[in-house]
Amino acid sequence: MVLWSTSLLHIASLCFFINTSPSNSFQATTSRDTHTSISLATESNHDSTKKIQTAALLENAKEIDSSLASGNAVGDFCENTWSNRLGTVLTPVAKGVYTGDRPFYWNKIDVGGRMCVIQLDDGNLWVHSPIDFDEKTANALKELGNVKYIVSPNYEHLKYARQWSEKFPEAFMWGCPGLSQMLPEIEWEGEIPYGLTRPSESDNLKNCWDFDVIVPLHLNMETNPFTGKPFFNEVVFYHKPSKSLITTDIYWNYPQKDGIPNSHLEGSNDDHGLAPTVGSIPLGTRLWKFGMDKIYLPFYKRLMINDKQRYEDVVTMIVDEWEIETSIPCHGDVIRGREKIREVLTRHFKIN
Ligand SMILES: [Fe+2]
Repeated sequence: MVLWSTSLLHIASLCFFINTSPSNSFQATTSRDTHTSISLATESNHDSTKKIQTAALLENAKEIDSSLASGNAVGDFCENTWSNRLGTVLTPVAKGVYTGDRPFYWNKIDVGGRMCVIQLDDGNLWVHSPIDFDEKTANALKELGNVKYIVSPNYEHLKYARQWSEKFPEAFMWGCPGLSQMLPEIEWEGEIPYGLTRPSESDNLKNCWDFDVIVPLHLNMETNPFTGKPFFNEVVFYHKPSKSLITTDIYWNYPQKDGIPNSHLEGSNDDHGLAPTVGSIPLGTRLWKFGMDKIYLPFYKRLMINDKQRYEDVVTMIVDEWEIETSIPCHGDVIRGREKIREVLTRHFKIN
């Protein structure tokens, strides 16, 4: 996080001249009455399906947290803030998918941090971007299964990798390309193959999960202009059974001032109790959001993408090929609903 933050400050000082005008690409609508009524009916079905799904997840959350089970609106793990809206040690976000939402402070600014845990069919757990270890988290994980794979997905989310490798010595540590050189003190099992686009392209890796279940995609199209090396060098993941996208620093979704989840994404703040509204977002976090949205993102698109064709291919795969129903970013709020996610990601990745 320190390296990233330092680089970001450099970037910030150079980027105020960049003109940012994110376009709004909303779904096309038809004026024909018949089509409109069909569209509304479909939307309504989607809404009720989503409601049923989130209700089931909330029931699951009650099994993990006694406070929720006794009828409270938030859990008893910690105070609920924007970086852990439900105040739970682990929060169910999709079938077999849980997150550990925690505050993460940089210079007293809470930039948020989210670990993702996926239950595999064999009862083992796949852990993405681990958070600071504590016994409550360990006990909650024990209820879910056995920690078998721990993944460090990019060059920045490394702070707790060593800690988790020591706490779970039997687990296999996997990292993005280049990570074993960066952190040689950790006993890595391996790195996601460089430039991997499709599962079929990987060799038969030992002690690795099934890439057809949790699909990795390496974003090998960036260069940090200050170092000449990849900046985040991230691998993003798509969990096929739950249709979940897991991103670290290539996509974020910080809340705006009002504390309502996804209030900046029209029609997408109905999490039915899984993500309660919190008090106003701290000034530092709002400034951080501004820096990421208005300074870093345009800088990344204009000056860090070294292979535009590869970038387009990667975006096409994420936006068009993966049928994402739940977006799980490490920073900011979860988003549900395929069309909404498609619209949001299209806007985020679009090069003007
Ligand atoms: Fe990050």
